[in-house]
Amino acid sequence: MATTQLQLTGDVHVRPDTDELFHDLGRAMLGAAFAAVSDRDVFHLALSGGTTPEKFYIRLVTDPTLRALPWDKTHVWLVDERLVPESDDRSNYRMIREALLDHVPMKKRQRHPVSVASTDPAGDYDRELREVICGNASCLPKLDFVLLGMGDDGHTASLFPESPALRVSDRWAAANDGPTVTPPPRVTLTLPVLNAARQAAVLVTGAKKAAALRRVDEQIRRGGPDPLHLPITGVDPDQHGDGTLTWYLDAAAAGA
Ligand code: 6PG
Repeated sequence: MATTQLQLTGDVHVRPDTDELFHDLGRAMLGAAFAAVSDRDVFHLALSGGTTPEKFYIRLVTDPTLRALPWDKTHVWLVDERLVPESDDRSNYRMIREALLDHVPMKKRQRHPVSVASTDPAGDYDRELREVICGNASCLPKLDFVLLGMGDDGHTASLFPESPALRVSDRWAAANDGPTVTPPPRVTLTLPVLNAARQAAVLVTGAKKAAALRRVDEQIRRGGPDPLHLPITGVDPDQHGDGTLTWYLDAAAAGA
């Protein structure tokens, strides 16, 4: 692994290029899937949209090693969704379906798109998470593996700086909109459910993200997490001692 001076919450894994990085991330996901299936006979995976993970999703279905992921035991959730129909290019579910889900053996009941046409898409998603993962209405669902990204402003999922969903602590999916939220309005997983995950991975690639990573590093060094202004710093599944967070960075993003 390349060394990096970045001080981030969790482990930092840097590879020279996305080819090696995707391999390592895929292996970690595979390990989490086998462990989950062995322990609970099901793997709950939450995936992000955006441009960075698309090539990784294609890799998941084209790399012979990674194709071994137990898709027949996997439930795929969305980390966030833009409130647009699936026919819209901005739909995260559309991207994930076209890059990945259309190419793996999964039943419809194992796919969990956000019901964007509902009158309460976030409320519906919150209920679905509780019912499918815990089987009751009053639980905090534990996702097995959550793949996150990071925007130039330090947002993750659709948790944008100073946006209302950052303050939600009693629901696991929330609507989000406002001046800092890149349109269209969104539905996002909330920090409590991200932090309840068994494993979270943040995939950040390319020189364009190096400045944002330096801001996160400086914030952690100077003052510690500041989720309101740099939402990614609020992600810490280790805070209750039973989850892990790993950053997957290519050398360009890490400035290595
Ligand atoms: C989304 C996301 C979002 C994304 C970051 C990074 O739907 O926009 O899930 O949190 O991960 O914005 O996006 P890029 O990969 O496009 O830079």
